[in-house]
Amino acid sequence: MKQKIIMINGSPRMNGGTSAAFRILRQELLKEGAAVTEYRLNTMNFRGCQGCMGCKRREGCVLYDDLTEVLQSLKSADGLIIGSPIYMFAVSGQMSLFINRLYSLINRYYQPYAGKVRKLMTVYSMGSPSAGYAEAEEQRIQAAMKMLGFRETERIEVTGVMPGQTLEGLPEYLERSLIRKADRWVRDAIAE
Ligand SMILES: Cc1cc2nc3c(=O)[nH]c(=O)nc-3n(C[C@H](O)[C@H](O)[C@H](O)COP(=O)(O)O)c2cc1C
Repeated sequence: MKQKIIMINGSPRMNGGTSAAFRILRQELLKEGAAVTEYRLNTMNFRGCQGCMGCKRREGCVLYDDLTEVLQSLKSADGLIIGSPIYMFAVSGQMSLFINRLYSLINRYYQPYAGKVRKLMTVYSMGSPSAGYAEAEEQRIQAAMKMLGFRETERIEVTGVMPGQTLEGLPEYLERSLIRKADRWVRDAIAE
């Protein structure tokens, strides 16, 4: 059966490292027969979590905005790809707000309303030449996403992208590695 994959781009830039990686991944997932829907957070209108706990009294977020459709479609998704620049040692503000809103996908017992754990791929783009720089943040995201019902089974780091630097594509070795990882990731079903 066709895998349903949601991609969330947390970079405001169309021509940076996150978007370059997303273009390659999307193409590869489509080639593998997945149904892919991509959202660019920076073009969407949404608010951060209100901390009202409405989603723990009944399923779903009390806010109705551009994230409503995304949260709804995530319930039936097989996999999620989130991509973000590293700003000040952390994911972008847009991505941070998005992750907080995923809190509405779990019930008061911290179980996903959807009843299944979905696989997760993370993509990080950063100025640092070494990925180790962002490791603490990557681990934080991994732990938060695990609590939210997503198991990180692949992580991609695009390093050495200077602030404001535009990229047409990625170096060939990185592109090849992305394609390999995308193929493996999309075929990997998570058994519960
Ligand atoms: C406000 C701001 C803060 C940044 N902070 C960091 C940082 O803490 N560590 C780092 O490695 N790069 C940092 N960078 C560089 C970006 O992570 C890098 O340019 C990245 O490629 C941006 O992602 P994008 O190309 O997908 O837009 C920062 C850039 C900006 C604009």
